[in-house]
Amino acid sequence: MWSILVYLIGISAKIIVSFILFCVLFLIGCRFWLEPVKGVCKCKTKLHGKIALITGGNSGIGFETAKDLARRGAKVIIASRDVKKSEEAVANIIATTGNELVEHRYLNLANKDSIETFAKDFNKEFDRLDILVNNAGIGGIKKQNTENGIDMLMQINYVGPFTLTYLLLDKLIASKPSRIVNVSSYLHKMAKFDFENLSDVFTYSGQTGSLYSQSIRYGNAKLCDILWTVALAKKLPYGVTANVLHPGLVKTNIFNNFSPHIKRVLFLIIDLLYKTPIEGAQTIIHLCVSPKLENETGCYYMDCKKVSPSKAAEDEDLAERLWHKTLSLIKQ
Ligand SMILES: NC(=O)c1ccc[n+]([C@@H]2O[C@H](COP(=O)([O-])OP(=O)(O)OC[C@H]3O[C@@H](n4cnc5c(N)ncnc54)[C@H](OP(=O)(O)O)[C@@H]3O)[C@@H](O)[C@H]2O)c1
Ligand SMILES: *[C@@H]1O[C@H](CO)[C@@H](O)[C@H](O)[C@H]1NC(C)=O
Ligand SMILES: *[C@@H]1O[C@H](CO)[C@@H](O)[C@H](O)[C@H]1NC(C)=O
Ligand SMILES: *[C@@H]1O[C@H](CO)[C@@H](O)[C@H](O)[C@H]1NC(C)=O
Repeated sequence: MWSILVYLIGISAKIIVSFILFCVLFLIGCRFWLEPVKGVCKCKTKLHGKIALITGGNSGIGFETAKDLARRGAKVIIASRDVKKSEEAVANIIATTGNELVEHRYLNLANKDSIETFAKDFNKEFDRLDILVNNAGIGGIKKQNTENGIDMLMQINYVGPFTLTYLLLDKLIASKPSRIVNVSSYLHKMAKFDFENLSDVFTYSGQTGSLYSQSIRYGNAKLCDILWTVALAKKLPYGVTANVLHPGLVKTNIFNNFSPHIKRVLFLIIDLLYKTPIEGAQTIIHLCVSPKLENETGCYYMDCKKVSPSKAAEDEDLAERLWHKTLSLIKQ
């Protein structure tokens, strides 16, 4: 009797150990197959004499992008809210790259006046703008509106960057060849709003309690980012390009608004299978510097490759209507 029991325990222990071993090897395999082998920017392009502006350059993907562009010799301006964090980021980039031409300017994309002041000062102070990276973004914040009734998540992820780009456009055009790079997300596929009637597109009326509803809300803003890029690309003169990308699932502060439990599980999965901020920055960097992409415009990228976004994101009529709707909103 005992010997049978011991025998069975022995077998199940073997099965369990082999299963765990298999899982570990499988995860390691996936890790190498997925990242960082795929989607690394290998361009050696130098950027001496160029000016790059990166919103949200003090943290995560934006920070790694700022560091890379500084290493290539560009003058890099980080635009964000947290002054202390930004100054630490600037000091870190100067120390690691040896490029002293790195600065911080205060910008709050939640606030129209802040964007206008920033753009006015930038246009006065800098004589060119070669690369604009609309990277700043936020996820998982509580439901809250701006004073003109726009959902805060939509304002920071879409309306704010739209306004900023619009106000810097003359500078970008004067600096041709120049590039606009927008950071969107794969979650644009979750977007759910009335594509026929855009009258409520900037106000979010759904729930925000669950992860699912938060994804829809975030997806709405990120779909607008892609549509905007498509419409903008068509309006820009030759020599100014605009592209948009999904950076991948990346371990950054963007998940700080999530509950600690969800965050812990998510970070474990990201550690095993997805990206570090350096890996997450690769597609942005590629779009900023690759000589092959000098004439590419209005496209959506993932892992340094052009891919198709959702069907809604390719709807040029929708892009055009959203463009006019946003323009009349920011001109109010
Ligand atoms: N991490 C991912 O898995 C993932 C996936 C898909 C897309 N993305 C996108 O990637 C971009 C970068 O995110 P991340 O993951 O690197 O997140 P992060 O580490 O949280 O960085 C976000 C940056 O945005 C800035 N920011 C936030 N609100 C702002 C405001 N109102 N005005 C100006 N700047 C503001 C923050 O600086 P301050 O707080 O100092 O302002 C910070 O530098 C975002 O657009 C995000 O949606 C990320
Ligand atoms: C994306 O880029 C376009 C230019 O192609 C710009 O007009 C638009 O405001 C950008 N949107 C975001 C959210 O970055
Ligand atoms: C669009 O939606 C708004 C509010 O939901 C409504 O007042 C308006 O009549 C709608 N317009 C059309 C053309 O359906
Ligand atoms: C981009 O266009 C210019 C002018 O039409 C051309 O000279 C150049 O070779 C093109 N670059 C690429 C990478 O196709």
